[in-house]
Amino acid sequence: MSQMTTPADLFVHELQDVYFAERTLTKVLPKLADEVNDEELTEAFRHHLDETRQHVANLEQVFAGLGVSARGAKCPGIEGITEEHDMFMQENDPSDEVRDMFVTGAAARTEHYEIAAYTGLVGMARSLGDRNAQELLEENLKQEKKALEKVESISTRLLKETAKA
Ligand SMILES: [Fe+2]
Ligand SMILES: [Fe+2]
Repeated sequence: MSQMTTPADLFVHELQDVYFAERTLTKVLPKLADEVNDEELTEAFRHHLDETRQHVANLEQVFAGLGVSARGAKCPGIEGITEEHDMFMQENDPSDEVRDMFVTGAAARTEHYEIAAYTGLVGMARSLGDRNAQELLEENLKQEKKALEKVESISTRLLKETAKA
């Protein structure tokens, strides 16, 4: 293995990592939208699926701007979150209510993960002086933050509803 020595190479690696994560999420989000019972949650996942497809396209533009081919690098971080979801479902056979609450938690973890990734990438793009990449990555970051807010507000409502029941 050759030694990685430049911030520009690390930037490409981090892009490949989040590209893998985003592409994984385009497969996971439709399943989550079908799996949950709460209408607002289903709608939020469908909406974020559209945004996620845009995130993939924005990353492809960043790769194009760098003159490197778009490819993913296996990201065990995102795979871990999806595995945890699958295990929970198998082991607990949750009720509708519990499942929706669990899934909002998994979604919040995912958004935090993406927010951390894009915050790092925006900083790297800025320090490398790559305006084009910075703007595209900021667009993704902004949507991840909004998605997190949405999931958190749904989670608060679900908790209130279960407290009342
Ligand atoms: Fe995303
Ligand atoms: Fe996201």
